Amino acid sequence: MHHVQEAQILAALQTVMEPDLKKDLVTLGMIEDIRIDERNRVSFSVVLTTPACPMKNQIRQACIDAVRTCVPLADEIEVNMTSKVTSGCSHHQGEEERPLKGVKNIIAVASGKGGVGKSTVAVNLAVSLAATGAKVGLIDADLYGPSIPTMFGMNDAKPEVVDKNLVPVEKYGIKLMSIGFLIETDTAIIWRGPMASSAIKQFISEVAWGELDYLIFDLPPGTGDIQLTLVQTIPLTGAVIVTTPQDLALADVSKAVSMFRKVHVPILGLVENMCYYELPDGTKDYIFGKAGGERFAKAQGIAFLGAIPIGREVREGGDSGIPFVMAEKASATATAMTRAAQEVARQISITNACNGREPS
Ligand SMILES: Nc1ncnc2c1ncn2[C@@H]1O[C@H](COP(=O)(O)OP(=O)(O)OP(=O)(O)O)[C@@H](O)[C@H]1O
Ligand SMILES: [Mg+2]
Repeated sequence: MHHVQEAQILAALQTVMEPDLKKDLVTLGMIEDIRIDERNRVSFSVVLTTPACPMKNQIRQACIDAVRTCVPLADEIEVNMTSKVTSGCSHHQGEEERPLKGVKNIIAVASGKGGVGKSTVAVNLAVSLAATGAKVGLIDADLYGPSIPTMFGMNDAKPEVVDKNLVPVEKYGIKLMSIGFLIETDTAIIWRGPMASSAIKQFISEVAWGELDYLIFDLPPGTGDIQLTLVQTIPLTGAVIVTTPQDLALADVSKAVSMFRKVHVPILGLVENMCYYELPDGTKDYIFGKAGGERFAKAQGIAFLGAIPIGREVREGGDSGIPFVMAEKASATATAMTRAAQEVARQISITNACNGREPS
């Protein structure tokens, strides 16, 4: 009996392209652990750049098809889909950034104006990515109205201090940090610009984040001084901009886009929130106007990451401490949010690949 050779498997997989990175899987170093047993049963691992890869099944099938076609002797073909998240953080800031050593990507979630669902998107993005197996952290940078403790049902949590670093609170496998954990919720504090940004910077430099694939940053709304200082000083991989269709008509979203462009932070894309309400008979009511987000993104040359409908479960999830992507997995809102999270992960992988960053 003829034996299948490893080189034949590699040659076959060289015909499979990574759809976003536009190179073949072998050249990209994504194939590991090729095994061929005495009965020509073949197995190998495909190491994706994110566990949230939206094309996981498509890539797996392409691998199986390629091996079947190019290596007819191969009997059963087993493909293990694994992942190593690529890193998009520049760590040249030196010693004071040390607690961030293990953080591969920092993503800012921003909006031109308040109340568009930024925190909702940040929280459910974190939960969606964590559900794929990624290691995720979340920072609530809203000093005036921290909402993350409530959205995780953690209003009474207090972070510990170990070796002068704050230890993030953990819920649903996500590491959390919020000013809401540190001060009494009814204490009124007037944060002046510099004080506010230095408080938030401490969430980066004095919190023991450990190893994280994605650290998500729920920025305060707007494009003022605090936001500008933050996006300039934090080594961001990129930004996700949240809007409502109504908000699109205003200049605020463009201002947010310009702010990130000015400081050379890549814009990963745009999420349109509250895009329609689905009536019981299935028709969609575009309360705030239709599909402006996609058009806006196109005009700005940025990726459209998805549209999240209005849903009762979204608000309920925010109030109950059980995010809607967990509590109402089958809902249209959760499906849309999960897809948007995959798109975010995909854009991060593309951005890192464009910057020549290899899986680390
Ligand atoms: N798709 C949606 N469907 C229904 N309700 C939503 C949706 N998105 C957000 N909400 C609700 O709208 C309100 C505002 O959302 P959220 O707090 O996430 O906005 P924000 O942009 O973070 O606001 P802020 O600017 O105050 O930080 C919340 O009560 C939230 O539950
Ligand atoms: Mg918010």
